[in-house]
Amino acid sequence: MGTVSNVFYLILSFGIILELGSINASRFKFTNFICDSMNESWIAVHQCRLKAIRRDRTTLSFNGTVLKTVSRFRVHAQIFKRANGFKPWLYNITFDGCRFLRKPYEPPVLIVFNLIKRYSNFNFTCPYMGPVYIMGVHVIGEQIPVPLPTGDYLIQIKWYIGKVLFLSTGIYFAFEENLSSY
Ligand SMILES: *[C@@H]1O[C@H](CO)[C@@H](O)[C@H](O)[C@H]1NC(C)=O
Ligand SMILES: *[C@@H]1O[C@H](CO)[C@@H](O)[C@H](O)[C@H]1NC(C)=O
Ligand SMILES: *[C@@H]1O[C@H](CO)[C@@H](O)[C@H](O)[C@H]1NC(C)=O
Ligand SMILES: *[C@@H]1O[C@H](CO)[C@@H](O)[C@H](O)[C@H]1NC(C)=O
Ligand SMILES: *[C@@H]1O[C@H](CO)[C@@H](O)[C@H](O)[C@H]1NC(C)=O
Repeated sequence: MGTVSNVFYLILSFGIILELGSINASRFKFTNFICDSMNESWIAVHQCRLKAIRRDRTTLSFNGTVLKTVSRFRVHAQIFKRANGFKPWLYNITFDGCRFLRKPYEPPVLIVFNLIKRYSNFNFTCPYMGPVYIMGVHVIGEQIPVPLPTGDYLIQIKWYIGKVLFLSTGIYFAFEENLSSY
């Protein structure tokens, strides 16, 4: 009898812990990562991949080499959300990459930069030539500082020097908010 109630108690408290653990829990998962070097005289891409570290968690890595000295570049970032194909959603931003590296600006870009900075070597300023990498980025739902509706997203980032598009990257992720409320 004692054993049965102990087991019952265990199950009950385990359930409560699970419940507490999932209050306000949201889930973030990278689902795909694409990198296309559009001009191999500017950048070589050595690695562009996701790695599953748990059933519900993936890490993102990029490793490339900038092959010419870059003293100006432009970044065009756009967010898409899936609804019968990916549709433009909220942000469509073009910013000056060298200015950003000197002194980060543009709040939405800062949010992403703050999430990835510590996994990267993005601590240089222009002019720059050499390695660029982000290794093993993982994001947990709670780190997203803005309200984000549940859905599938794509952050498309295009890198330009003058009019030349030299790199096109796409980060796909799935986000589920407030799991406990379902
Ligand atoms: C690649 O970049 C080089 C150097 O800027 C440029 O001369 C060339 O036209 C570019 N190629 C393409 C396909 O844009
Ligand atoms: C990036 O790739 C280059 C070339 O394969 C390699 O030498 C370098 O160690 C890699 N960097 C990282 C951080 O893995
Ligand atoms: C996003 O911005 C780019 C560059 O400024 C522009 O060409 C494009 O039409 C914009 N897309 C949308 C959906 O606003
Ligand atoms: C940038 O970060 C890399 C990797 O953490 C480090 O090896 C390098 O010394 C740093 N460079 C500067 C200028 O802070
Ligand atoms: C998720 O939880 C937060 C904190 O309790 C709340 O402010 C927000 O409205 C919730 N969102 C949804 C969609 O339930």
